Amino acid sequence: MKVLLLNGSPRANGNTAAALNEMKSIFEESGVEVEVVQVGNKPVRGCIACGKCYEKGKCVFDDLVNETAPKFAECDGLVIASPVYYASANGSLIAFLDRLFYSSHFDKRMKVGASVAIARRAGTTATFDQLNKYFTICGMPVASSNYWNEVHGGAPGEAEADAEGMQTLRTLARNMVFLMRSIALGKEQFGLPEQEPRVFTNFIR
Ligand SMILES: Cc1cc2nc3c(=O)[nH]c(=O)nc-3n(C[C@H](O)[C@H](O)[C@H](O)COP(=O)(O)O)c2cc1C
Repeated sequence: MKVLLLNGSPRANGNTAAALNEMKSIFEESGVEVEVVQVGNKPVRGCIACGKCYEKGKCVFDDLVNETAPKFAECDGLVIASPVYYASANGSLIAFLDRLFYSSHFDKRMKVGASVAIARRAGTTATFDQLNKYFTICGMPVASSNYWNEVHGGAPGEAEADAEGMQTLRTLARNMVFLMRSIALGKEQFGLPEQEPRVFTNFIR
């Protein structure tokens, strides 16, 4: 069982890292393998809508996106964590996620997703909603906790003092482990749900 953690902060050791570390310790004590990919400090460009990924099954820009896609394909769960910038996620992370989800064509259904927003003060729930959209367009169940997944802190390290935020993340990680295990059992017993051929309209025809 494996979980991929995406750190959307340019600070490798900032508050987003502290939040992910809190979850990492729960995954590790539960015997779940963890890999962290540092996204926010990479010069990731946005999607250019060239459509080449339809032919190639990968992005024309051969960077961290194509490097991460096989890791995403093999994981059972994905955590996306971002610092809040102007009440939304870090722009580099969004550029990365647009290209990762759009250009990779493996079956993402039943991989468990969770997103985490880290802010000094405000914009966490908007960011949380923004990140959850990536999961809910491709059949990924979203793990939840006993509060929305947000941690507060400004300067690096401050998030560690947010006792409630950190507890929310430990609970989230435990819930994710439970869901991943349950889904693995369910897949064994029942298989993945039947999929209809895709109907694709632009509302009018
Ligand atoms: C460009 C920029 C925009 C920010 N916008 C917000 C914001 O809208 N709301 C907020 O509470 N904090 C905002 N912050 C503060 C960060 O979210 C906060 O410092 C966070 O802990 C950074 O996480 P990190 O240490 O992992 O990078 C902003 C920081 C930067 C650099």
